Amino acid sequence: MNRMIYVKQTSHVMHMISIIGAGKVGSAAAFDILRFRTSDVVLVDVVENLAQGEALDMMQAAPAIEFDGKIRGTSDYSEIEGSELVIVTAGQARQPGMSRFDLAEKNAKIVKSVVKEVAKYCPDCRLMMVTNPVDVMTYVAYKESGFERNRVFGMGNILDTLRFRSYIALELGVSREDIRGLVIGEHGDTMVPLVRYASVSGIPITELLTKEQVEKIVSLTRSSGSDVIRLKGATTYAPGVVIAIMADAVLRGRNRVMSVSTFLQGEYGFSDVSIGVPCVLGRNGVEKILELNLDAETKREFEKSVASVKEATKKTYKPA
Ligand code: LAC
Repeated sequence: MNRMIYVKQTSHVMHMISIIGAGKVGSAAAFDILRFRTSDVVLVDVVENLAQGEALDMMQAAPAIEFDGKIRGTSDYSEIEGSELVIVTAGQARQPGMSRFDLAEKNAKIVKSVVKEVAKYCPDCRLMMVTNPVDVMTYVAYKESGFERNRVFGMGNILDTLRFRSYIALELGVSREDIRGLVIGEHGDTMVPLVRYASVSGIPITELLTKEQVEKIVSLTRSSGSDVIRLKGATTYAPGVVIAIMADAVLRGRNRVMSVSTFLQGEYGFSDVSIGVPCVLGRNGVEKILELNLDAETKREFEKSVASVKEATKKTYKPA
């Protein structure tokens, strides 16, 4: 008898990702990265034992999610050595009623010291910023690291896009999977959901929704982070899974088209600012910035968003 033996494929995880900050977002991201079996994870936190505890908890869950790689928690930065991707979530979190910009000064200090360690131990890594206000922190990380700009990028708009998609699906009563969309600009109050580019299986949403419905969706998208914080004090699952999706795009070199915060050098007519624009996200980080021909109104909104991020950046960061 010709017997086939099926060997269940175990994950030969060769990659390594470090996450700095084992708070709610950092640890949720770590667990999603394990669930996607993207990579080994080193979780770092200055709070003694926090990262170790999170890692132990996840290691105990690993048999259930069939993850055979390594998850380690530490307070020692030297353990991030060898990471291809470092994700920074460390910093103060927003309290109900706060704007992301209110965190800028305190978090810039934290990010500066974290980036110093990252540049020391992982001089060749890709650096993903999550700490808020993420556009300002991406700027700080880019300047402080001395890395090429493609290697430093921030999370913001992918999360906004997920929320935009969720609310479109809810309004239409259709599968979330069939919704495509894009949000650009600040990950904050001035973000710009691109209504003209949003579709349901290729059908522009403007053909299926009234102007009022679209306005409601845009407004819900803008306030979505604050809405969660008002209810439960922090956002967790949505940012966590977005980080894992981005990590997967980078580590597997998937060249996904997503809006990430990136340092502009003339694209969209702006320079010396880090803000969300559509990019190809792959092995080298931002492989390419996609420049869209925005209509006049969207252009104005984007300009406003850039101005707001630039102002916050100027207030926060003085280059050495
Ligand atoms: C949010 C935080 C991560 O929007 O900025 O959930």
